[in-house]
Amino acid sequence: MKKILELISEEMKSAFEAAGYDRELGKVTFSNRPDLCEFQCNGAMAGAKQYKKAPIMIANEVVEKLADSNVFEKAEAVAPGFLNLTLKNEFVGSYIADMSESAKYGLEEAKNPLSIVIDYGGPNVAKPLHVGHLRSAIIGESVKRIARYVGHNVIGDIHLGDWGQPMGLIMNELKIRKPELVYFDESYTGEYPTEPPFTISELEEIYPFASKRSKEDAEYKENAMACTFKLQSGVRGYRALWNHIIAVSVTDLKKNYEKLNVDFDLWNGESAVHDLIPGMVSYMKEGGYAYISDGALVVDVKEETDTKEYPPCMILKSDGAALYNTTDLATIMMRMEENKPDELIYVVDKRQDLYFEQVFRCARKTKLVKEDTKLKFLGFGTMNGKDGKPFKTREGGVMRLENLIKEINEEMLKKITDNREISEEEAAETAKIVALSALKYGDLSNQASKDYIFDIDRFTSFEGDTGPYLLYTTVRIKSILAKYKESGCEPDVKALQAPVSASEKELMLCLAQFNASIESAYEEIAPHKVCAYMYDLANAFNHFYHETKILAEEDAAKKAGWIALLVLTRDVLETCMDLLGFSAPERM
Ligand code: ARG
Repeated sequence: MKKILELISEEMKSAFEAAGYDRELGKVTFSNRPDLCEFQCNGAMAGAKQYKKAPIMIANEVVEKLADSNVFEKAEAVAPGFLNLTLKNEFVGSYIADMSESAKYGLEEAKNPLSIVIDYGGPNVAKPLHVGHLRSAIIGESVKRIARYVGHNVIGDIHLGDWGQPMGLIMNELKIRKPELVYFDESYTGEYPTEPPFTISELEEIYPFASKRSKEDAEYKENAMACTFKLQSGVRGYRALWNHIIAVSVTDLKKNYEKLNVDFDLWNGESAVHDLIPGMVSYMKEGGYAYISDGALVVDVKEETDTKEYPPCMILKSDGAALYNTTDLATIMMRMEENKPDELIYVVDKRQDLYFEQVFRCARKTKLVKEDTKLKFLGFGTMNGKDGKPFKTREGGVMRLENLIKEINEEMLKKITDNREISEEEAAETAKIVALSALKYGDLSNQASKDYIFDIDRFTSFEGDTGPYLLYTTVRIKSILAKYKESGCEPDVKALQAPVSASEKELMLCLAQFNASIESAYEEIAPHKVCAYMYDLANAFNHFYHETKILAEEDAAKKAGWIALLVLTRDVLETCMDLLGFSAPERM
């Protein structure tokens, strides 16, 4: 379906043309004086110079041509030459009727679906998820859902940190604690046990312990590096042990991401490209892209127009070891081969922006990607506490994601049980659903690149620009619809009518923005635009609701029309929630 602004602009363009002016002057925009009119067109002002005429004269001529318009109720020329526009109720009603019968509420799917890989999540194996990983997961999941809804083929890849120094640290510490483990016996040729020799809690305790000790003890660190080397060079026992670390860790990660309603199509890690690195390195050398500098293999990535320093991209360290960017480049190579993406989007902490710029330049220069492959970096800001500093626990430590979720669930449960009498079980279930909306909406409603303050009181409030407010609004609609059904009637979308009140028209005009809002959220990779749209819609609905006695209406056709409008509003709100990765309960 065409966007409502397009339809209105077409009507206006035809009027400009009929009056003898350039069609393109007829572009219509939202009114910046909603107290005076709904829409406006400044084409007469813009055309004044070209036609050497006073703008008001042009505007008056255009208005004349709109006398029997089916679109405009009122088209008014006002000094010095603005066109103030108000739509006909029938036009708005019929747009909404079409919208409610269209598959995606008027959104046109991409004509040429792109293949897109989104790299998000990025947790590190054997380390507990902390709040820093929260944003990548929440934002990436939403970006993925929006792109899919628009009609693209999207693959979400978690890109686990599973191959570097932390692995060696864990193995080395395990070797000290349990030297008898068969994995460390390099003469062993039999099968390895299928049961892991540790639990997730042990793993999570070992890593920080080993990491701390390696900073204080040079020999310890060296032993750990030797373990990393053994793992990477394929020593059987170390590989087998590593497989256990991955399996135990991934099981735990899956559980945590599930709680966040986040899921990945690919669970590839840095390790997945290990065997591709030698080939990539020779390709870069043979192509004349990479050269040795101070013993290390590097690719220059600076460009003439640079205003800041871009250090060369290091492919191999002087000891021949691969780095973070070596795996990222090899991963690009693998994705180009396997997924053939038109576009790669990385959802990573914005402090890595310089790093990604280097990687992207290097990938382009060495032709790992095609000329028209798009490489996009969506860098997000920090989640801060109320003190404006990076979010911490009360004790000042790094907040584990699990605990953060627990805290917000408990807060929500308190609010829900304070409110009304429901069974304990239902309250706990509902609290979880509402808490997830609080957490996700609190994050997503900010532009991703900005830092934001995690404020549990504000996020869990049922009032204001919050997730719970949107859920509450949706549940309110559901409850009206349930009562309507209890009275023996069935909602029918065909019952939609032209609006009869200002608040109803306002709600419809807001609904009509759905396609344009989602399209721009996709184009700008901006989930916060979906949030802003939903908030406007919820406000428009609540305004309508407070001014309209829906169920008490005696005119059955009118009532049925409103019910159909409620169905559409609920569906659009729930679609938006799904794009953000949360949902509404049936009641709360
Ligand atoms: N594991 C990394 C970290 O915790 C994030 C990975 C981001 N993605 C990537 N392709 N480099 O910082």
